[in-house]
Formats: sequence, C-alpha cells, structure tokens
Amino acid sequence: MAGNADSRGTVKGVDRLLGDCSLDGLRRRRSEKWAEYPPDVLPAWVAEMDFDLAEPIKDAVREAITAGDCGYPHPQGFGAAYAAFAARRFGWAPDPRRVYAVPDVMTGIAEVLQGVTRHGSGVVINPPVYPPFFFRLRLAGRPVVEAPLARDAGGRYHLDPGALDAALAREDVAAYLLCSPHNPTGRVWSRDDLNTVADICARRGAVLIVDEIHAPLALPGARHVPFLSVDLDDDLARRTFTFTSASKGWNIPGLKCGLAVVAADQAAAALEERWEALLPSHLGVLATEAAFADCAPWLEAVCGQLDENRTLLAKLLAQYLPAVSYVPPEASFLAWLDCRPLAAGDPAESFLDRARVAVTSGTGFGEQGRGFVRLNMGTSPALLQEIVRRMGTAVAA
Ligand SMILES: Cc1ncc(COP(=O)(O)O)c(C=O)c1O
Repeated sequence: MAGNADSRGTVKGVDRLLGDCSLDGLRRRRSEKWAEYPPDVLPAWVAEMDFDLAEPIKDAVREAITAGDCGYPHPQGFGAAYAAFAARRFGWAPDPRRVYAVPDVMTGIAEVLQGVTRHGSGVVINPPVYPPFFFRLRLAGRPVVEAPLARDAGGRYHLDPGALDAALAREDVAAYLLCSPHNPTGRVWSRDDLNTVADICARRGAVLIVDEIHAPLALPGARHVPFLSVDLDDDLARRTFTFTSASKGWNIPGLKCGLAVVAADQAAAALEERWEALLPSHLGVLATEAAFADCAPWLEAVCGQLDENRTLLAKLLAQYLPAVSYVPPEASFLAWLDCRPLAAGDPAESFLDRARVAVTSGTGFGEQGRGFVRLNMGTSPALLQEIVRRMGTAVAA
C-alpha cells in the first residue's frame, strides 16, 4: 500500500502480499463488483475485496488447471485443514469428519432448512441483515420472521433476547438464522451473547443455523467465538448447523466453496443425505484448503489493512461527510453508514448519480436500513479516500 511505502517508495513488509489496488488492474477484473458499472463509477458495493490473491491460492488453482485436474471434488484433507486453522485462529477445533464442503454458504443454509424444517415454517432473522437472508429464505418456502437488532444511542447494535424469544415462541416458527459476525453492522458477538442464544433456542426447540462467513476477518480487539465452541445441550447440538467459508476472508467467492460444520450425528446425516445438492467446485475446495493451510500471513496483512481502513474511514467521514455517522466494524470490510441526516430519498442513489460511487442501499437489509448505506472498504487507503471524497461532493452539490 502506498501509505506503507518507505522513503524510496518501495512497498515493504506484509503489505506486499496485498498488491497496490491499481485502478487499471482492477478495471480489468470481470467479477460483479467491477463489471456492473461504467468506468467512471468507483465501486464500493458488493462484498469483494480489491487486494491481490494470496500466492498459495493462485498456486493451488494453477497447478490443478495445469494438471487437467478439474473433476468433481473430493473432501480429503479439507476438514483437517479447517480444523487446524480454527484451532490456531479461534482456539477451538471441530472434528474434521464433521466439516463438510458445500457450494456456498447460502446454498448450504437453504438446503439444510429445506431438509430439517417443514415447508411454510418461519425462520427468524435479525435485521438489518444481509439481503439474501430475506429473499433466499422466501424462495426456499420459509417465510422470514423478524427479530430486529436493538440500536443504542451511540449507534451500536445488539442482539435483543426479548425480541428473539418472542419470535421463536411463535407456533409458525421453526428456525433461527444468526449472522455471526454480523453483516452489515460488523458486530462480533461475545460468548455471553451466544450462550443467551443457545438458551433461548434450547428452550424454544428451534433449529439453529449460524452464518460465520466473516469469522476469519475478526479485526484487532475482537475475538470471534465459533458457535459450536459454546456449551450446547445435546438436543440443541443435534439441530445446530454452522456455516463458514474462505470466500470473504481470502476473497474467493467466485471459486464456489463454503463449509458446513456440525457437532452431532443427526446434523451430519442431514448434510450427508444432501451430498449431491451440496457438491462444491473442485477448484474451490483446493483453493479453500490452501487458504486455511497456507495463507495465514496474507490474512494477517488483510486484517491489518482493514484495521487501518476502518480508522481512516472515520477521519474521512468527519472531513467530507460530517453529517454521516458510523461505528467502526469489529470484523470484515463493510461499513454501515447512517445517512439519515442527509437529504430525503435513498442516499445510495444520490451517491451513484451525483458522485459516481456505487454503495449498497440500506433498504435491502430490512426496514431498519432505510437512510443507511453499506460501504465496502476492502481496498487501498488511496481508493477509500477517493470514494469518500467523491461522496462528499454529492452532498455539497
Ligand atoms: C453474511 C453473509 N452470508 C453469506 C454470504 C454469501 O456467501 P456465499 O457466496 O458463500 O453464499 C455473504 C456474502 O457477502 C455474507 O455477507
């Protein structure tokens, strides 16, 4: 990164692993983030990062292609690689035999819900939350029941045990889908939070699905607690499914591989009988294994950069958009900006029309997201600065 160049302009240290996020290079990418808008737009929307890929991931995919190794996936080594990573990173390791590769997190969640709950039964979610939680569940025939997060006077979000309990008490509700760490608020839930969730789900008999896709990106000061490391009663363990992935942490969602992790035979059986619907991409499996086994330095570099970016963003907002408030995320690269003091209408539309910056409108995250936008700061400090400077012109104009 330019900010870490020494006096001769040489990029030094771990940041070399992330590359320079040059606009020329990024505009050649054909993934959704960079392909969706015309070249005068700076994209800060969908959850892709702008950094170079980690070398061991490139090697794994390159070697497979060179060897013509593009068949169906085989899980050999996959569970062990994740278990070793989880032990190092979270101080907890699952049984490698209970780690399953799946095509992606949302497909895994939808398949499991279709397998273990009745058609038409409700699933509780905590808006504001990742938009596909709303529409993917609806498409799977599982209506959404909302237990919104509580928001304190400082703009920080919290799980609301009363709202969760009331939602899970409903006759028509069968399951709870928890996002941990939470997108878009960036909250990392504490062990106490998770114990409370476990107690409520145990009492209400709910199936529990935990989406831990952002867990590898818990930033300095926060510690992600894997849900399965919490003390669960045996009944709840039988109906608990956690999902994670290397797709956010190492920026490889296009390779199509996520993980389901369970702690009981009954949950394992629900995954195993769906093996054919849950086949991931072979290249994704290889890349994911490489990420967990060989890419710790890259992950450290990215977490360091995101830590710097979340602080920089606060300064840039104060300079260019002082009416907008934000609480720095505890995990990942998504910033949830409260733009309600700005002019009426969807702020994402005016940032696009007037500043040529694409951010994600808060409205897709639920009613609670009206007047908010989600900004992707998984980029260089220089591009982040240009994004926020431009957004400031939309307001000043
Ligand atoms: C909370 C959450 N879950 C799931 C996904 C999508 O993951 P996948 O592509 O593995 O379905 C995302 C992507 O940003 C996400 O933020």
